[in-house]
Amino acid sequence: MNRKVTVVGGAGNVGATVARSIAQRELADVVVIDIAGTKAAGVALDIYESCPIEGSASRVVGVGVEDFAESANSDVVVITSGVPRKPGMSRDDLLQVNYKIMQDVTAQIVKHSPNCIIVPVANPLDAMSQAVYRLSGFPRERVIGMAGVLDSARMRAFIAMELNVSVENVSAFVLGGHGDTMVPLPRYSTVAGIPITELLSKERIDAICERTANGGAEITKLIGTSAWYAPGASAAQMVEAILKDQKKILPCSVFLQGEYGIRDLFVGVPVKLGAGGVEQIIEITLTDEETAALKKSAGAVKELVDVIKV
Ligand code: 2OP
Repeated sequence: MNRKVTVVGGAGNVGATVARSIAQRELADVVVIDIAGTKAAGVALDIYESCPIEGSASRVVGVGVEDFAESANSDVVVITSGVPRKPGMSRDDLLQVNYKIMQDVTAQIVKHSPNCIIVPVANPLDAMSQAVYRLSGFPRERVIGMAGVLDSARMRAFIAMELNVSVENVSAFVLGGHGDTMVPLPRYSTVAGIPITELLSKERIDAICERTANGGAEITKLIGTSAWYAPGASAAQMVEAILKDQKKILPCSVFLQGEYGIRDLFVGVPVKLGAGGVEQIIEITLTDEETAALKKSAGAVKELVDVIKV
């Protein structure tokens, strides 16, 4: 195929899910890279062997980090490397160890694919995205953190469960950092175009917002490690929007420079994703309460980026 996507950390649960989703949808050839090289080769081979059944012409290969050159000239590189959460851990607990991994990985990505778009997925998401942005020297349009798509998908699922309607009818928006302070926006969350504020009591909406903010921890507690199906699907949707130049509006973590009154910080906001990466940052009107919640969430991200000084 004439498109290439590399998934770094691709032998892990999230990475393998992203790689499989991209191959299954025949979006691009896929390179799976992992510190566990043999496992990367195995995961890639298994995905490739599914392609004849799925009806996909994507080629899939897997290599160890010593063969990073295999990723050369990728259009998009998804970074799923990093240590996942264990029950009881917050995403922030992963800061230092995953920052070190971002340093190694970003240097390799820049060397082999200087024109790619990077989609960081490692936690703590916004701080790791900012680290990758600073380390890469890429323009802000080409470093786009995956979080809002996942958090919004969780909120959509909870709204659909509550009202017993199809998830496809439900649209939801979650802004802010990918942490406990994230900002679900009920006013902008709809079922077939009807705001959920017209359909549900304040108590039920508050419960949905709280469950959304704790959505990652809920899965971690149930499984014993962090989620992968929904995070993987979320990253794949972003890759698809970029490769197909869909101009899709999705909440993503991007480097704000004054938008929403926030400067020099990665925070989740709605953006237009297309072939150029972030093609527009959409500024929606927020109430004073929503603005205060977004500022608080940005403050939590700032605390982390200050620790690693990025
Ligand atoms: C989650 O929310 C892993 O941060 C990811 O599940």
